[in-house]
Amino acid sequence: MTSSIRFLMCAPDHYDVDYVINPWMEGNIHKSSRDRAVEQWQKLYEVLKKHAIVDLVTPQIGWPDMVFTANAGLVLGENVVLSRFLHKERQGEEPFFQTWFEENGYTVNLLPKDLPFEGAGDALLDREGRWLWAGYGFRSELDSHPYLAKWLDIEVLSLRLIDERFYHLDTCFCPLANGYLLYYPGAFDAYSNRLIEMRVAPEKRIAITEADAVNFACNTVNVESIVIMNKASNALKARLADVGFRVIETPLTEFLKAGGAAKCLTLRVTEPLDTDIHANVSVESRVIRMEGHLLDSGLINRALDLIVDTGGSFQVMNFNLGEQRQSTSAAEVRVSAPSHEVMEEIISQLIDLGAVDLPQNERDAKLQPVIQAGVAPDDFYVSTIYPTEVRINGQWVKVENQRMDGAIAITKTANGLVASCKLLRDLEVSDSVIVDVLGIRTVRKTESREQRNSQEFSFMSAGVSSERRVELVVEQVAWELRKIRDAGGKVVVTAGPVVIHTGGGEHLAQLIREGYVQALLGGNAIAVHDMEQNMMGTSLGVDMKRGVAVRGGHRHHLKAINTIRRYGSIAKAVEAGVIKGGVMYECVSNNVPFSLAGSIRDDGPLPDTQMNLIQAQEEYAKLIEGAEMVLMLSSMLHSIGVGNMTPAGVKMVCVDINPAVVTKLSDRGSVESVGVVTDVGLFLSLLIQQLEKLTNPYVASVG
Ligand code: ARG
Repeated sequence: MTSSIRFLMCAPDHYDVDYVINPWMEGNIHKSSRDRAVEQWQKLYEVLKKHAIVDLVTPQIGWPDMVFTANAGLVLGENVVLSRFLHKERQGEEPFFQTWFEENGYTVNLLPKDLPFEGAGDALLDREGRWLWAGYGFRSELDSHPYLAKWLDIEVLSLRLIDERFYHLDTCFCPLANGYLLYYPGAFDAYSNRLIEMRVAPEKRIAITEADAVNFACNTVNVESIVIMNKASNALKARLADVGFRVIETPLTEFLKAGGAAKCLTLRVTEPLDTDIHANVSVESRVIRMEGHLLDSGLINRALDLIVDTGGSFQVMNFNLGEQRQSTSAAEVRVSAPSHEVMEEIISQLIDLGAVDLPQNERDAKLQPVIQAGVAPDDFYVSTIYPTEVRINGQWVKVENQRMDGAIAITKTANGLVASCKLLRDLEVSDSVIVDVLGIRTVRKTESREQRNSQEFSFMSAGVSSERRVELVVEQVAWELRKIRDAGGKVVVTAGPVVIHTGGGEHLAQLIREGYVQALLGGNAIAVHDMEQNMMGTSLGVDMKRGVAVRGGHRHHLKAINTIRRYGSIAKAVEAGVIKGGVMYECVSNNVPFSLAGSIRDDGPLPDTQMNLIQAQEEYAKLIEGAEMVLMLSSMLHSIGVGNMTPAGVKMVCVDINPAVVTKLSDRGSVESVGVVTDVGLFLSLLIQQLEKLTNPYVASVG
C-alpha cells in the first residue's frame, strides 16, 4: 500500500447471474463459475491492496450484484448520495450500503423515491476534482443531476448514454490522473461528445476502439499512475504507457457475464473536496402543457418519445384523461434537458406538436433585431407549417404567411405589429426576428377517434397505401376534385416527366381541360416531353403507342425544344397551331397558369422555364396561394419544394412509385396528407375513370 486512497469492495460469496437487467447478462443466467469468480475477485483485491486501502462491506444472500460496490452511492468528501436502483432486482442492496456509509461516518443524502441514480457507476469525478461527469439514458435519471450538484456543491456535466451495452457511465468512460480521459465515443450522443471535447483537450483524450470497449477497458481503477483493468489491446497499452500510465491486467471474465469489471467491483470512498469548486448545473427543467385528444391522436406518445430521443427526460406531473370518447385530455409534463441548447431543441419540437410551455404562457416571445439584411440572429426560431401565434406585449399575435423553414419577423406597420414568416433572404434590417422558444404556440388540430374516422382523408391516415387502397384513394381524390371544382376552389398539380413517360399525359390534359386544375407546377422536362409527344409521338424518343425506342428518337426532345424556342414561348407555339394537344396545350387554352422551375440538367431550356431559382420559388409560392389541394405527381424535387411552401391545412396527395418519396412527403400529419405508392400513369387513368363515373352516371351504367 502506497497511499491513503481507500476503496470499498464486497466479496463475491453470493455472486451469480440470477436475472437479466443488462445485455451482458442475457444468456448467462447461472453460467458463471463461483470458484473462478472468487479467484478473479481475490486477484483484483490483492492487486488493489498493493496501491490503496481496501474496506469491505458484508455480502448479503439474495443480492448477487452487491459485489458491484461502484453502485453503492457517490462519495465526495464526507457526503454520499445513496443509490436508488432502477431495477427492483438491486433495490434491496440500498439499506446495506446505507448502513455501511453511516457506520463509517458519512453524511448520507437520499434522493426522492422513484428518481433512479446508480452511484459511482453513473457519476465520475474528474480526477483533478474540477467537476463531476454524470451519465443518464439507461439507469440514472437526468433529474437526479441537480441534486448531485446541490448536495456535493460541484459542477455536474451530464452525458447521455445511447448504446445499451454501455448502460453505466463507468463502462465507457474513465477520467484518469493528470486530466487524461479514457473513453469510448460511440457510447455517447453527439451532444455529449461535443461536451467532452469542449472540456478535455485533444492530447488528453484517449478514445478507445469498440474491441477494447467490449473488454471493459474503460472500466478501470486508476490509482495515480496505475490503471487496473480486465484486458487491453497492445495498442491501448502502448498509448497509455506513452502518457505515463502502467496497465495492470487482471482477468474478470466471470464478472463480465453480469456486465461489470474492475471499476464496477470497487468504490473509491476517499474523494478529496476542493473548496474552490462550487455547484453549477446546466440541467434545465420546464413544465409544458398539452391539451386535446392526446391518446387518440397518439400525441402524448410522440411528445414523450421526442423528449427522450432528443436527449431530455420527463416526468408526467398531471394527466387528466378525458372520460368520454369525445372529451379531451390535458397533461402537464416536466421536461428536463442537459443544457439550454438541448432544451430549446426539445421545446421547439414540442411546440410543433401543439404544446405550450407553462410559465412561458405568461412570457413574451424574445425578439432580436436583424443587423445584416438576409441574415437572422443565431438563435432564431425556425417556422413550421402549422398555424403559429407569438406573444408580443402580452398579446397573442397570429403569424401570417405561414410556411416552414422561415424566420418569424415582426414588423411595425401603421396598423400595429405584424408577425409573418419570412425566408432568410427576405429579412430586412428594419425587422425583428423571434429567437429562442418562449412565447410561441402552434395550433394543432388533434382529432378524436370519431373525427379521425369521418374525415375525408382519414382512411388514408396510415400513409402509404397498398393495392386495394390505391382505389380507395382514387375514389376519395375524385370526390374532392369534384367538390372543389364545383365550389370554384383551387387545386394545384406538381408533376414530373414520369407522368408523360407512363402515359399519364392525356389524363392530366383531360383534368386540366375539364377544370379540375387551377395551376400547374413542374420543371423544364415535363413540358418538353409533353410537347415532344404531341408533336412527334415520342417521349424522350420512345414511341408512346408501341413502347419502343424510335430510331434517332433521342434527338426528338431537342427538336421539340428548338421549335418552341423559335416561336418564343409555349403559348405562342400553341397559338400558331404547332402544339395541338397535351398538358401544356390545355394549360394555355384554358388559361391555367403554370410555372416551370429550371435546374442544372435542363436542356434548352424552353423560353418559359424560369432559370432564376429565387424567381421560380416566388412564382411557385404565388400559384400555391389559396390552394385547397395539391396533387403531387412523381416529382420529388418540385413536390418537396411545394411542400415547404405550403401551410398546414392544405390537402396533399403524393403519388410516386418510390415509397421513400411518398413517405417523405406524406409525413405531415394524418388528416391532410396522403401518399400512394403506385405508377402515376395508372393512378391518373383510374382517377379519370372515377371522375367519369361521378359526373356521368348514365354512361357508366348503360355501358
Ligand atoms: N449486473 C449489474 C447491473 O446490471 C452490473 C453492475 C455493474 N456496475 C457498474 N458500475 N457498471 O446492475
